[in-house]
Amino acid sequence: METGGPVPSEWKEFISEVLIGSTDLSKRINEVALSITEHYKDLNPILIVVLKGAVMFASDLSRALPFRHELEFIRAKSYEGTQTTGTVKIIGLEHVTLTERHVIVIEDIVDTGLTLRRVCKCLEGAGAASVKCCSLLVKETAQRHEGIPIVDYVAFRVPDKFVIGYGLDYDQAFRHIPFVGVYRQ
Ligand code: XMP
Ligand code: MG
Repeated sequence: METGGPVPSEWKEFISEVLIGSTDLSKRINEVALSITEHYKDLNPILIVVLKGAVMFASDLSRALPFRHELEFIRAKSYEGTQTTGTVKIIGLEHVTLTERHVIVIEDIVDTGLTLRRVCKCLEGAGAASVKCCSLLVKETAQRHEGIPIVDYVAFRVPDKFVIGYGLDYDQAFRHIPFVGVYRQ
């Protein structure tokens, strides 16, 4: 994986290191899109985008998929500041019909995996024909729990540090930064 080069001066106060630069983000997302296309091109899947963190990733990934698919959006929240709260709230699935549909969950980052486990459990009960998971980032963490679903499509693996940018926030800020960086704590 490429390092992202120097931190732009306007973000030095908040970011200690650029982990993934915007060129590498788009290059890798096109590769992930190719893998997804191989499997899903005739399946008209539903991409279930986990807001808010996955919004930039889903937007770029979806536009790199050259076949029919649908987008739906849910909320899942487990963090306050930089600490996981241990409970995951999910909002929005009640309006989506998944019967007989192929579903791809689009996440920003898998850390302990609790959010993904909770989302997949909700989808399993809703009659989907298949459920796979795609995450922009997977954290190299010792905290992964039992029974965490496999992340079928991973764009990047990152160290166990709090990261922001390209959709990821610190208390709702910094989502718009076009690269992924380490938050300066
Ligand atoms: P779990 O532990 O459930 O966490 O796998 C996944 C969710 O927690 C958020 N998260 C982060 N958000 N920087 C962020 O901005 C991080 O380093 C980070 N780690 C976890 C994220 O919302 C993800 O969906
Ligand atoms: Mg999130």
